[in-house]
Amino acid sequence: SNNIVVAIDGYSSCGKSTLAKALAKKLHFIYVDSGAMYRAVTLYFLRNNVDLQNETQVAQVLENIHLNFHSRDYESHITLNDEEVSEEIRLMPVSENVSAVSAIHSVRVEMVKQQQRMGKSKNIVMDGRDIGTVVFPHAQVKLFMTADPKIRAERRYKELLPKNPDISLEDVFENLAHRDYQDTTRKESPLTRADDAIILDNTDLTPDEQLQFALDRIKPFM
Ligand code: C5P
Repeated sequence: SNNIVVAIDGYSSCGKSTLAKALAKKLHFIYVDSGAMYRAVTLYFLRNNVDLQNETQVAQVLENIHLNFHSRDYESHITLNDEEVSEEIRLMPVSENVSAVSAIHSVRVEMVKQQQRMGKSKNIVMDGRDIGTVVFPHAQVKLFMTADPKIRAERRYKELLPKNPDISLEDVFENLAHRDYQDTTRKESPLTRADDAIILDNTDLTPDEQLQFALDRIKPFM
């Protein structure tokens, strides 16, 4: 098929989803936040006290999890068995456990299968950790995003603060560092730049500049 796939990978809180949403809106592509899928699975595991060490239980429980995206004005919303969980999956309990859940083989196999199905025949922008390496190795455009860790923590802190007045900048910083460590060192599909991914360090770039940078790379395929 000749649909266009844009794969955006990178560290935690680098602005991947901000850029991906802006691109999808501008180009009328579908946007899929793959991290939201791992987060929703994590929420389900937490609620149901799933033992992460128990591969058999994990595989069984996965069959009971049904995820769906519904897009409102390119804000991506996710439902877990028809319950809207878009906000709850951003909170600390999920953030603290998601990297452990996403390191499980059977979890990844199932998520990757669903993600590949979504990008089969449609123009799509997907962001995550393994999109350019594993999910869509043949994506026309691959971006690998990075930014100064302190800047990233500050951005995420500001985003979380209004709804989480008890949160501290240190907690956010620690969580990002910890997730980046787990995501880059895990055995299964570790976060790494695909050989053909373009690095986008956005420490000093505005959202508009990032959008333009990405559009310039996608235009040749349109
Ligand atoms: O993108 P976000 O920060 O919401 O992702 C949450 C976590 O989900 C990441 O820290 C990572 O552990 C996992 N993830 C993954 N593969 C993806 C997307 C997210 O392992 N494609």
